[in-house]
Amino acid sequence: MSIWSIFLVLQGIQSAISVHHSLQYIYTASSGIQNFPEFVAVGLVDGNEVMYYDSNIREAKPKQDWMKKVTEDDPQYWDFQTRELFGTLMSFINSIEVAKKRFNQTGGVHIFQNMYGCEFDDEYKEVEGWENFGYDGEDFIALDLKTERWSAPVYQASITKNKWDNDKRKMAETKYYITQTCPDWLEKYLEYGKNSLKRTDFPWLLSLLQKLSSSQVSCHATGFYPSRAEMYWRRDGEEIHEDVNKGEILPNNDGTFQMSVDLNISSISSNDWMRYECVFQLSGLKDLVIKLEPEKIQTNDGKFSYFITIIWVTTGGAIGLAVYHLCLWRNCGWCYKY
Ligand SMILES: *[C@@H]1O[C@H](CO)[C@@H](O)[C@H](O)[C@H]1NC(C)=O
Ligand SMILES: *[C@@H]1O[C@H](CO)[C@@H](O)[C@H](O)[C@H]1NC(C)=O
Repeated sequence: MSIWSIFLVLQGIQSAISVHHSLQYIYTASSGIQNFPEFVAVGLVDGNEVMYYDSNIREAKPKQDWMKKVTEDDPQYWDFQTRELFGTLMSFINSIEVAKKRFNQTGGVHIFQNMYGCEFDDEYKEVEGWENFGYDGEDFIALDLKTERWSAPVYQASITKNKWDNDKRKMAETKYYITQTCPDWLEKYLEYGKNSLKRTDFPWLLSLLQKLSSSQVSCHATGFYPSRAEMYWRRDGEEIHEDVNKGEILPNNDGTFQMSVDLNISSISSNDWMRYECVFQLSGLKDLVIKLEPEKIQTNDGKFSYFITIIWVTTGGAIGLAVYHLCLWRNCGWCYKY
């Protein structure tokens, strides 16, 4: 277990003004990956890992101190989670075998994932919920709440789609869970964890980094919380999109986040450099700005490619690819580091 740790890769950089909160669960069943638990479940509140379960430990565990408070209201909480997740584990190990058959696969590395949850806006209380399944890094089947149907982008999922579309009870239960039960729990968790979840940490520095022999200058901020930050490049005071690559928001080990946004400078003449600056915004606080100036650029790519590099170097080959996909599937908000 100890060689595994979980990394969050947060999705959707949304408006920094209204405050959204989310509760999401991600289940991952895998086959053919050595030393990797067959089944892993994580729970995330606002992108913070709050619950962990895997097929080796077979016990649901709190990952934040404040999550221990749930037993004050519900003493059976962790036992109940443990029992439920054992059922899920059995069904997911079966699902991966079914998926392999449908794709005519016998061996190799395979990953079956389920991600569901809900999100609301502090102000409007508008609730959004989702549930979708992925197989080997691709969408497999997803709930469309509006039409109350399942959508299956691959034909291997059509049997499942037909079965689930005709299962009115399953639909009603799923809908109830993600639109009622999930937001209720999210409110409870936000209350338990308010001191830690509702804090704001501001990055103390923006840095400009450039990899050797690269035409991209990366603007990098680290140490901020919550994760819903906005970062962009502007020219003459206007936000620009061309020649800009937004990176993902990644977690640091201390519960804060980092992010970066790259600017391709190959077609910018050196006289024009001073027109460019990078801006970081976090929940209505004063913007952090850094101008594009040669003397501010550090040519140090350490921090930056760390995440992907580690995966490729230590796992390599097919497993590297699978794990890499695992991270990227719909920016699921979470992935493994070996
Ligand atoms: C799987 O194999 C069967 C029998 O050989 C074939 O009819 C089917 O088209 C194959 N399916 C896929 C997804 O390759
Ligand atoms: C930067 O822009 C140049 C010219 O448009 C292009 O050839 C190059 O591939 C770009 N670099 C990256 C890393 O996108």
